[in-house]
Amino acid sequence: MERIAVCPGSFDPVTLGHLDIITRTSELFDRVIVLVSKNVDKNPAFSAEERVELIKEVTGDLKNVSVEAFDGLLADFVRESGACAIVKGIRAMTDFENEFQMALVNRRLYGEAETVFLVARSENMYLSSSVVRQVASFGGDISGFVPEKIADRIMKRLYK
Ligand code: PNS
Repeated sequence: MERIAVCPGSFDPVTLGHLDIITRTSELFDRVIVLVSKNVDKNPAFSAEERVELIKEVTGDLKNVSVEAFDGLLADFVRESGACAIVKGIRAMTDFENEFQMALVNRRLYGEAETVFLVARSENMYLSSSVVRQVASFGGDISGFVPEKIADRIMKRLYK
């Protein structure tokens, strides 16, 4: 049976840290769906379509990875897609509390899928989409934070 993983997140925008987690997930599962999802606590800078496009651009060489956007409950998407796992990256204990809560809620809503946490690489521990947005909005160099091929596009959108 094909083992499908869902990598959900805001990806506003996708960072080198996200790409590392997606790549490692693609090595562990037969197929990976990167899911641009709605976080009700965040007001995204990039539209869902833009975020999907940016992720597609940087995952194009990962043959078992596809990218989608979904506005509803993650647990519903996971059920409908037949995925067996939700994979998230963990950077520090501060991530853990929130992720642990979401994992328990998702298990309650759909108990057939496991949440799997991959530990971020140490060089990505400080990295987040909000760091990228902040540095870019002041015209700083984001080349070490996001994949090279999308850095210009992100700068054009965020540096006014
Ligand atoms: O990158 P983020 O913002 O930490 O990702 C959080 C996200 C988008 C995965 C989470 O908010 C989510 O799963 N949203 C979809 C709606 C949902 O299922 N919420 C219940 C989870 S407790």
